[in-house]
Amino acid sequence: MSKIGVTLVGLGPMGQAMVRKLLGAGHAVTVWNRTASRADAVVAEGATRAADVADALAANGVVILSLTDYQAMYDILGTATDGLAGKVVVNLSSDTPARTREAAQWLAGHGAELLTGGVMVPAVLVGEEGAYVFYSGSREVFDRYEPMLRVIGRPDYVGDDYALAQLYYQAQLDIFLTSLSAYMHATALLNSVGVSAESFRPYAEDNFSMMSMYLPEAAKQIDAGEHPGDGASVVMMGATADHILGASEEAGIDTGLPKAVKAHYDRAIESGHGADSWTSLIERIRKP
Ligand SMILES: NC(=O)c1ccc[n+]([C@@H]2O[C@H](COP(=O)([O-])OP(=O)(O)OC[C@H]3O[C@@H](n4cnc5c(N)ncnc54)[C@H](OP(=O)(O)O)[C@@H]3O)[C@@H](O)[C@H]2O)c1
Repeated sequence: MSKIGVTLVGLGPMGQAMVRKLLGAGHAVTVWNRTASRADAVVAEGATRAADVADALAANGVVILSLTDYQAMYDILGTATDGLAGKVVVNLSSDTPARTREAAQWLAGHGAELLTGGVMVPAVLVGEEGAYVFYSGSREVFDRYEPMLRVIGRPDYVGDDYALAQLYYQAQLDIFLTSLSAYMHATALLNSVGVSAESFRPYAEDNFSMMSMYLPEAAKQIDAGEHPGDGASVVMMGATADHILGASEEAGIDTGLPKAVKAHYDRAIESGHGADSWTSLIERIRKP
């Protein structure tokens, strides 16, 4: 792989992890961070410190941003817009799809091209086996920088709509965050009768591992818009959702999550999907 120069702006845990992997792969990395001291460690390891944002942009044709959100991009690049022409900005910061598309327009207005991305692992796993990053934007731009981007994780290009990488990222985090809350809630339910998290752990682990087994069939049914209720019907699962809510109320623990889950089943039954499979829930989730 040919070694290139790359600028990295934003040196939180994620940005620092990326700089280290890029340096390790032999790329020349120029860094800039609002709080300058956060660059000290990576500069000691071989990165070049840019004096200011203009200097950071001038150093290389490609600039990776690892910031809290897209507003931070405006706060930073807005101070040096003259330096944006001809640059590729790879923004790996999280934000909404609309803000991502607006950013592409703003950058294009200054002669720069956006490649948007979402890093799917925590900072400690950047560049490690299993790490991957969603990208969207111009395929040609992605292909040009793909070998360098591969260093921080397997690059998965998902399409030319700038918001797509962001949406894939959020879809994954949607599953992740909701599952963590479900696990916390289930643990609290058992805690309410004195069962420890450790006692519950093997069963929770088993449940998490089994979950992916349902997906191949579910995805087929969702895409086909067909929800045959041969295994477990919405009515049966909705009754269980109701019992979980009842158990939570009896235990005096938070009921927000079980109420939300029960509402999905109630609405599916209301729409005539009682005898169908749980995949029919998607109809009223799409159109509540
Ligand atoms: N950490 C993870 O495990 C992880 C995993 C996946 C994705 N991500 C994503 O990666 C991005 C960075 O994560 P992180 O954990 O490194 O975040 P972080 O610690 O919050 O770092 C954010 C960076 O943004 C800068 N920043 C924020 N607002 C700014 C502003 N208005 N002007 C200038 N600079 C500003 C900070 O500068 P200062 O140092 O001056 O505050 C810092 O460099 C986020 O979008 C996050 O969602 C993180």
